[in-house]
Amino acid sequence: MAKKVMITDTILRDAHQSHAATRMRLEQMLPVLEQLDKIGYYSLEGWGGATFDSCMRYLNEDPWERLRTLRKYLKKTPIQMLLRGQNLLGYRNYADDLVEKVVEKSIENGIGVVRVFDALNDPRNIESSMKAIKKYGAGGKCVCEAAISYTTSPVHTLDYFVKLAKTYENMGADNICIKDMANLLLPYDAYKLVTALKKELRPETKLHLHTHNTTGTGDMVNLMAIQAGVDIVDTALSPLGNGTSQPATEPLVATLRGTEYDTGIDLEKLIPIAAHFKKVAAELEKEGSLNPKVRQVDVNTLIYQVPGGMLSNLMSQLKKAGKEDKLQEVLAEVPNVRADCGYPPLVTPSSQIVGTQAVMNVIMGERYKMVPKETKDLFAGKYGQLPMPLNEEVAAKVLKGEKRITYRPADDLEPEYEKLKAEVVEKGYYTQEEDVLSYASFPEVAETFFKWRKAKNEGVDSDLAKTGVYPV
Ligand code: CO
Repeated sequence: MAKKVMITDTILRDAHQSHAATRMRLEQMLPVLEQLDKIGYYSLEGWGGATFDSCMRYLNEDPWERLRTLRKYLKKTPIQMLLRGQNLLGYRNYADDLVEKVVEKSIENGIGVVRVFDALNDPRNIESSMKAIKKYGAGGKCVCEAAISYTTSPVHTLDYFVKLAKTYENMGADNICIKDMANLLLPYDAYKLVTALKKELRPETKLHLHTHNTTGTGDMVNLMAIQAGVDIVDTALSPLGNGTSQPATEPLVATLRGTEYDTGIDLEKLIPIAAHFKKVAAELEKEGSLNPKVRQVDVNTLIYQVPGGMLSNLMSQLKKAGKEDKLQEVLAEVPNVRADCGYPPLVTPSSQIVGTQAVMNVIMGERYKMVPKETKDLFAGKYGQLPMPLNEEVAAKVLKGEKRITYRPADDLEPEYEKLKAEVVEKGYYTQEEDVLSYASFPEVAETFFKWRKAKNEGVDSDLAKTGVYPV
């Protein structure tokens, strides 16, 4: 039974987000876009995630203009984006009208696959996005890919993930993605998970795997998933692959060549493109955006069961408090805090919330003596529903009578598009509907960018326009 494996290359988004803080410029992509388009990838991930923030904050680029340009050159290959459900491209909950508008404009400007996820895996937090993707992407215009945030805990069992995937499938997902952003998924677990999901999902639903190679297991995870029947895997061309990024594309293409899983990708065609990105990676390293350390294998996650980013946060918080010797105690406290708040996946923002609370519990010498607002909000249901019920005793201590919500967090929000549009118009920066969405995502960053853009276009402040770099 021949089963061709499809590849999504993340070179235009997650690869440089992971290795170089999302600093790749459009002009560094342009020379090879036409070649990339001819490779035969399932999709090219090129937008969403931190693209918005980085484009406007550091690169003086309109993220929407970038998308339109990518679309112009990528004529055949779908452009994929990452969307944080109700948080869209930012870090707060947005009203449904804004969610719909962002999805509508993303698809209109050229997105062909939207990967949408919620950090807590609360289906209510991706429901509005999914509805909009189905509406504006109808007729084969855009694939709706619902992603499961992968994590490990006593409640995150095969049954749990299968049930969640079925829920997303029933909500209209064309694809299901296993999103292993912290590289916690181990190769044999990947085999079991993919086997279980393929057995229960409809035959037409594609299963897509996203992992990283932070701990050095990424290639093995991909290969075991392929053996178990996964349809699509994410990789990144070698100059920005491996380490904290996705496993490299070329070794996987070579591994599968001539087997029943052959990707159909011509390795020879990847060589000149990789050569180009090798130069780009060197440029990023030279300007200080890429630290070569990101390419090393980091085994901490394997040992401590917490994502690499979370571990470095814990260590820096302890260092600030002068309690570096408490690391082992904090690492032992992390699973306790997690159990108290119903086992959220350890991904942004819950990884920071759980980590900070564990640090406080240890350094204060009393559990939940000090409770940041974010912990309260998590316990109050303001991020969404947690996988398991809370520890009620702890919840009472944390919330101190504060109201708990059981409805969808965004149900509280009034429509906001028109109000935000009026603000952008009044400030004199409105040039397109998309500006309102940029402004909604990162108000201050967008305003500084708009100011620079206006200066450049109108020459009202030639100094600002000339430097091309504005203070932040
Ligand atoms: Co990722």
